[in-house]
Amino acid sequence: MTDKSASSAEAVPPTRPYAPGLEGIVAAETALGYVDGEAGQLLYRGYRIGDLVDRGTYSAVANLLWTGEWEPGHRLPTAPVPDAVMAALRALPRTAKPMDALRTAVSVWGATQLLDWPPTPEQARALTAFSPSALAAFTRLRQGLEPVDPDPSLDLVPGFLYQLAGKRADAGTARALDAYFIVGAEHGLNASTFAARVITSTRSDIASAVTGAIGAMKGPLHGGAPSEVVEQIHRVGTPEHAEEWVRDAVARGERLMGFGHRVYRAYDPRARALRTVVEAMEHKPDWLELAIAVEDVALRVLAELHPERALKTNVEYYAAAVLQGVGLTPDLFPATFALARHAGWTAHVIEQAGANRLIRPDAIYTGPAERDLPA
Ligand SMILES: CC(C)(COP(=O)(O)OP(=O)(O)OC[C@H]1O[C@@H](n2cnc3c(N)ncnc32)[C@H](O)[C@@H]1OP(=O)(O)O)[C@@H](O)C(=O)NCCC(=O)NCCS
Repeated sequence: MTDKSASSAEAVPPTRPYAPGLEGIVAAETALGYVDGEAGQLLYRGYRIGDLVDRGTYSAVANLLWTGEWEPGHRLPTAPVPDAVMAALRALPRTAKPMDALRTAVSVWGATQLLDWPPTPEQARALTAFSPSALAAFTRLRQGLEPVDPDPSLDLVPGFLYQLAGKRADAGTARALDAYFIVGAEHGLNASTFAARVITSTRSDIASAVTGAIGAMKGPLHGGAPSEVVEQIHRVGTPEHAEEWVRDAVARGERLMGFGHRVYRAYDPRARALRTVVEAMEHKPDWLELAIAVEDVALRVLAELHPERALKTNVEYYAAAVLQGVGLTPDLFPATFALARHAGWTAHVIEQAGANRLIRPDAIYTGPAERDLPA
């Protein structure tokens, strides 16, 4: 037997640029979202995120992403859950993670639909309207409660809250969650959106793309950490304790949850918009005042200890306040983020299909060089 165990990097030298994680590689053109980290700016089809939160609803923003048209009165009630999906949700263990239940629901939903190529805004609408009903149904089933049918007179976010609780939410609560959905709708070529585009590039269907995107978002490096923000604020305890706690945490090398961002060097515009909304909520989480006090201290201490790096509040900080304030339990936070991101995922799916090119990068082969099988 010959064993030419030469490293294949020698055998097949890289001839093209290698960028692990595709960092710095431009892999698509998009007219959907624009992120300027230095200026702290986020635009959806050119419109500022703060203006969209002030003057829009999630349904109008989703429609803007899908069609390019700004119709502030656009409505999208939640849609019924097909029997096959409900049977699948009933079959899941109550201990299943809400993200797993949502991923399963979207996959089964896809099997109940005729999803032709290319994906359309109608398909995007149908899927985005279905998923909140599915998540609400699973949330009730695991509590031993029966699912609640959609109320077609309610728009998507108030409809989701109604199907979760079995009663209508007050206007302030629905408005706060709607704002969260708007800021979560789209954020460029993040990992889950890229996953959706890769799946679409094979001419697969929109449900497969969103099922894969949910799988990508489930990982802790992507789904964000608003539930950890809640835990952290509880650990701080009182405003007087904030300075000592923050300094100790940074000295221990811990990351303060809800601060810092890979792209934003300025205050995250989504955090600013959500802070305004949460401060106007009728039912604020009781720790909101504490959170604001901790934020002030954390920004001051981080600026002092990391003068070389601008570490500002990110979206997760006030997302935690909104999600807690509207009564969601922390284990529902990631799946609720996934519901919000449906608009962006499906808009990217439509955009990818519109100028499709199979996404197929290369890898540097590092295995053994050519050799004979053992005799
Ligand atoms: C979001 C995040 C992963 C971005 O990280 P990044 O761009 O890769 O930044 P780096 O990891 O290179 O950090 C640069 C420096 O700032 C410090 N830093 C970054 N975020 C910090 C935070 N939240 N608290 C304390 N220090 C922080 C790091 O310790 C590092 O200093 P060091 O080199 O001396 O260790 C990071 O800021 C973080 O972990 N934040 C907390 C978690 C969070 O809020 N996630 C939600 C993001 S939307």
